[in-house]
Amino acid sequence: MDQELLKKQIKDLAKERNALLLAHNYQRDEIQEIADITGDSLALSMAAAQTDKDIIVFCGVHFMAESAAILAPEKTVLLPREDAVCPMADMVDAEGLRKMKGQYPDATVVTYVNSTAEVKAESDICCTSSNAINVVRSLDAEEVLLVPDRNLAQYIASHVGKTCHIWEGYCPTHDRVKVEEIKKALAEHPDALFMAHPECPPEILALADHICSTSGMYEYAQKSPAQKFIVGTEQGILYRLRKENPEKTFIIPSRGLICPNMKLTSLEDILSCLETMSPRITVEENVRRKARLSLDRMLAVPRD
Ligand code: 13P
Ligand code: SF4
Repeated sequence: MDQELLKKQIKDLAKERNALLLAHNYQRDEIQEIADITGDSLALSMAAAQTDKDIIVFCGVHFMAESAAILAPEKTVLLPREDAVCPMADMVDAEGLRKMKGQYPDATVVTYVNSTAEVKAESDICCTSSNAINVVRSLDAEEVLLVPDRNLAQYIASHVGKTCHIWEGYCPTHDRVKVEEIKKALAEHPDALFMAHPECPPEILALADHICSTSGMYEYAQKSPAQKFIVGTEQGILYRLRKENPEKTFIIPSRGLICPNMKLTSLEDILSCLETMSPRITVEENVRRKARLSLDRMLAVPRD
């Protein structure tokens, strides 16, 4: 079907159903274009919780829709592709985490939002890539268990001066960026600044001028007087970077920086999900209440 017609049908049906269309910063351009709100995983979940719409269509991956369902249980949360999962979130389960907690009984468990509801429910507090250092610093605990991203965890550990036990998970997309690729891009564009997501390995972060979440990248690109940026994160971020900064140049330094799961969702999937009102994401109430506590503790940490 013609793309423009599909977009119109989605917008019309979303209006009829009183649905809010959310798109993560890594979604395909045409999806970001029709979304009511684009943003990082946490901002989108919070938007889901605050909206007066009845239905949330979450164009992203499973854990993000689950976070929306945890924060807004009274709403219908739809994930257009149920198979859009985050491999890193699935690298830890509740049982594995319970075992590791047994090894470090005095440690406070800090879990990245890229995790399942069951794992959040087993945790003390959540964090995102934009507030992770702040969250860990805010804790009285001197010993923490950081789950599931080893790269984000090492980045946190290098800033907080606490004993950090690290779960060995990683994002396959960010973890495959190579030092040679960044050095080549920097040599080809000596006037560019390099911004990197903390899911990149430590040797990549060591080369970065600025380390931040996806939302942090929009802010940095807009505020910086620099005209050129090498972007160390998933390439879907280019859509808004270029739209908001038409005079600036953005370069993705590695062909590996595409998350296949983030690219699964199509306009056809969104239309079909609004027509059938499925797949719907729900979280079992006992798990939801515990997971919500971990998210609420994070949201209560003052921003710096
Ligand atoms: P953000 O929390 O910055 O949206 O990142 C989510 C993600 O999946 C990064 O790979
Ligand atoms: Fe998960 Fe990485 Fe894809 Fe983000 S980019 S959804 S962390 S696999």
